[in-house]
Amino acid sequence: MQDAVWLNANLATLREDGAPYGEIRDGALAVKDGRIAWIGHRSEWTGAAAREHDAGGAWITPGLVDCHTHLVYAGNRADEFEQRLKGATYEEIARAGGGINSTVRTTRAAPEAELAESAARRLRQWIDEGVAVVEIKSGYGLNTVSEAKMLRVARQLGDRVKVKTTFLGAHALPEEFKGRPDDYVALVCDEMLPAVSPLSDAVDAFCENIAFSVKQTARVFTAARNLGLAVKLHADQLSDSGGAQLAAQFDALSADHLEYTNEAGIEALARRGTVAVLLPGAFYFLREKQLPPLGALRRHRVPIAIATDHNPGSSPLTSPLLAMNLACTLFRLTPEEALAGITRNGARALGMHATHGTLEAGKCADFALWEIESPAELAYVAGSNPNAGTVRDGEPVPSA
Ligand code: NIG
Ligand code: FE
Repeated sequence: MQDAVWLNANLATLREDGAPYGEIRDGALAVKDGRIAWIGHRSEWTGAAAREHDAGGAWITPGLVDCHTHLVYAGNRADEFEQRLKGATYEEIARAGGGINSTVRTTRAAPEAELAESAARRLRQWIDEGVAVVEIKSGYGLNTVSEAKMLRVARQLGDRVKVKTTFLGAHALPEEFKGRPDDYVALVCDEMLPAVSPLSDAVDAFCENIAFSVKQTARVFTAARNLGLAVKLHADQLSDSGGAQLAAQFDALSADHLEYTNEAGIEALARRGTVAVLLPGAFYFLREKQLPPLGALRRHRVPIAIATDHNPGSSPLTSPLLAMNLACTLFRLTPEEALAGITRNGARALGMHATHGTLEAGKCADFALWEIESPAELAYVAGSNPNAGTVRDGEPVPSA
């Protein structure tokens, strides 16, 4: 006897079995003990379940996985948005002490309870849009105490949605280390990383000419590896910095942004199975011109994920569905690639593909129901939310 079954639903399983979206029209999906116990055509469903849900013809997809966010921070940067509209660039603002460091000042000053409250409020939109898993980075503390504070807040949000935390101590050079980047990298490796590793599922860095060099990033990754932590990288967002090669060299779970990655970088990602995470929100918001190398990523069969990159500076985007739309309109992903990017490959970018990202027997019963006529509508709607319910560990989630 199963715990529950959903009938009268079309299933976009996102399994790579040939059918577009891995679709099963008129399907049945049964759950037991928080796992998917049976999935297939309704005509083949002969089991029994304690509860029967009529999905009313809705589509069911895997719960969405937003694999790259900076969701915990204090304040906002609307003033920089205005400055940029008057002609200043993201780099200029960063070099003048604004940018990431301005959010560092507000986040350091914010009491933990206040950070938790603002992040929980923001997170509601993710939950409303059928999200099962959110990755949340630190990186606005830039000292041990404040990075730990951010990671604790992120972990606490795990009572609302599944959370993966990523330590991003190497996000920017804090003001007090001006002119001494190697000293700061030493602090990240020798003090911060050991202190926050119990609060972290992975380690990330911003490898860029306005942030940390390949050599400095490699040092952080080596320290992470010595602690047994997986790595990810903000790579080649604003220039070709060799970030993708570095990520691959360290067997990173993902290399993210990648607008400037060259063919050799993509080959390296392909060889190591590193996921390419594309972040159209930042591309849009910063009005970037250099498109990520989608053709080469496809040619080399690099798994492509997409994510919101929600943060107060370069991507205030709060909608995973809109991220799908932007991935299609700006980067020319197909709606199927966009949905795979925010389910199957998003899960892979977090090392969660054994339990999330597709609808398959044995995986966690985390899925979303949608009032749509075809799965392409999820990337097509630009601003509305067709979510008609979300199920976590086999249980319907009350709307946030
Ligand atoms: O992913 N690239 C670095 N980090 C963020 C921006 C953070 C900020 O501007 O506050 C990003 O785009
Ligand atoms: Fe980011």
